[in-house]
Amino acid sequence: MPENKAENLHASVLLGETLELLSVRDGGVYVDATLGLGGHAEAILSSAENARLIGIDQDAQAIGFAEKRLTGFGNRARIFHANFADIKTVLREAEIEKADGVLADLGVSSLQFDTGERGFSFRFDAPLDMRMDPESGAETAAELLENLSEEQIADLIYQYGEERASRRIARRIVWKREIGEPITTTKELAETVEKAIGRAGGAKNRDKIHPATRTFQALRIAVNGELEILENFIRDAVDVLKPDGRLAIITFHSLEDRIVKQTFQKLAGKCFCPPRIPKCVCGAEKRIEILTRKPVVADETEISENPRSRSAKLRVCRKLD
Ligand SMILES: C[S@@+](CC[C@H](N)C(=O)[O-])C[C@H]1O[C@@H](n2cnc3c(N)ncnc32)[C@H](O)[C@@H]1O
Ligand SMILES: [Zn+2]
Repeated sequence: MPENKAENLHASVLLGETLELLSVRDGGVYVDATLGLGGHAEAILSSAENARLIGIDQDAQAIGFAEKRLTGFGNRARIFHANFADIKTVLREAEIEKADGVLADLGVSSLQFDTGERGFSFRFDAPLDMRMDPESGAETAAELLENLSEEQIADLIYQYGEERASRRIARRIVWKREIGEPITTTKELAETVEKAIGRAGGAKNRDKIHPATRTFQALRIAVNGELEILENFIRDAVDVLKPDGRLAIITFHSLEDRIVKQTFQKLAGKCFCPPRIPKCVCGAEKRIEILTRKPVVADETEISENPRSRSAKLRVCRKLD
């Protein structure tokens, strides 16, 4: 197995469960759509002798890291710097027609979260960036806060952060802008949120998380367009699977999990159209079997070893013939 000094940097979440449900087999072709530090990818390649892997990540830093980690597997691993929204283009480039399994372990990697300069975390003071692909030319979180209206900022924090105090937070962000002190750093944003809703984060903050946690999550989702691309990605991933191929998705918050759950249900044939509509327009069609009636979650041991796994949910489906 390739040596990797930073092995402890990131424990891959629900690793055993993912491998089992993907049902990795010798000679199979697997796509890891969120390569990150390459933990799941390494485990897939190690668990079946002739399995091949196509790894995708939109973060060039993660690509560099995973490339080193997987060098020992030679040409069994091929790595692409791309958005998983382009999974079909990547597979065409790799001259792979169909895959036996696709995995997406969503969200940020510890490399992103623990590298202060990337601006994902209020634990480090850094420019408020949050782009997983800084080369994409997309707006940074600071630019979003500079350009959106107060109402748009409030809606974004409410929808993507499920933050009840979104209006108060948006008001204070825009007030800072108005007095000529726009928010440009993680620390300024964390302080602004704290000033808007108090250090405790309001009475509803039963989990005792930092008051800015939800606002940071919301901005990250918006900056990276994380929710918009998910349903289409799931449909494309099912398209590229062989019959009996598996799609496994790990999510870290309820907004993502809801999209995965509903898209799986639609692809399993459940119609979400309003009642009495003459013809189904929601895209329901029976193409998959859902293998996880309830999402698989981490057990106490994993949660105590890796707190990030606390909110992880794994859903897996199988493509029908
Ligand atoms: C939680 S980490 C994956 C960790 C990996 N499974 C491991 O075991 O090391 C998620 C990764 O997905 C990448 N990512 C998130 N959204 C993406 C997208 N739309 N396209 C490509 N990569 C994406 C992030 O850049 C990050 O590196
Ligand atoms: Zn329908």
